[in-house]
Amino acid sequence: MESAMTDKVRVPDLLRMKAQGRRITMLTAYDYPFARIFDAAGVDALLVGDSLGMTVQGQHSTLPVTVEQVIYHAQMVARGSRRALVVADMPFLSYQASVEQALLNAGRLIKEGGAEAVKVEGGEAIAPTVRRLAEIDVPVMGHIGLTPQSVHRMGGFRVQGRAGRPGVRSREMLLKDAAALEEAGAFAIVLEAIPAPLAAEITAQVHVPTIGIGAGPACDGQVLVMHDLLGLSACEPPRFAKSYATLWREVSEAVARYLADVREGRFPDAQHSYQE
Ligand code: KIV
Repeated sequence: MESAMTDKVRVPDLLRMKAQGRRITMLTAYDYPFARIFDAAGVDALLVGDSLGMTVQGQHSTLPVTVEQVIYHAQMVARGSRRALVVADMPFLSYQASVEQALLNAGRLIKEGGAEAVKVEGGEAIAPTVRRLAEIDVPVMGHIGLTPQSVHRMGGFRVQGRAGRPGVRSREMLLKDAAALEEAGAFAIVLEAIPAPLAAEITAQVHVPTIGIGAGPACDGQVLVMHDLLGLSACEPPRFAKSYATLWREVSEAVARYLADVREGRFPDAQHSYQE
């Protein structure tokens, strides 16, 4: 039956967009109001990223984030999304220990969280897990390059694909990672912090869409962390992120005005009071 959701973005639509050369837009979202705003603006996909550990919880990395926390945030985002595809991140150690563990946790993100797809970090090593998830019809988005869950191996959040640097995956490794993920059945691959020419090469090599973040303009789509886009980060955003607003400053100014109004007796005034 045709419904009002005819323009709903689904997994095959992203593949179609690559084939048609239409760029895919993705943003992270962690709650209902922002999901509604981004969805109404027409974003194609909303990622309930484990970046929530840093952006929302104030942690130093994504490592402490739990499956329960992603489910909690995914539920709010799913409620706020009418059109966008909702993708939930599988947090650290929710899929690496065994394929069975990955299947059960991915199932929870979909059944309890309301996600329509999951995202896992890693390339060749994680391909058998991606294959098994795809076989049971859990759509999987891959994520290679700078994989924040590997922060300790990388020795920090570092650009990947550059030769001869300890802790950095080489160009050859990343090309193999992308091929292995596609072969295993991933429906899209996030490329994070990879030199633009290498991201272009990977994008030309695979038939599934690549979604870049710090990976140059040749990717089939782009994703940004919402706090970077909106200027809402507590810390300096990465070099590749572009801020389109300065919400941290605007919120600070609004709160300062409210505090002054209360302290100086201007709020509440007659308009904001009940007279009887
Ligand atoms: O967790 C996240 O927000 C992500 C994006 C940076 C792609 O994985």
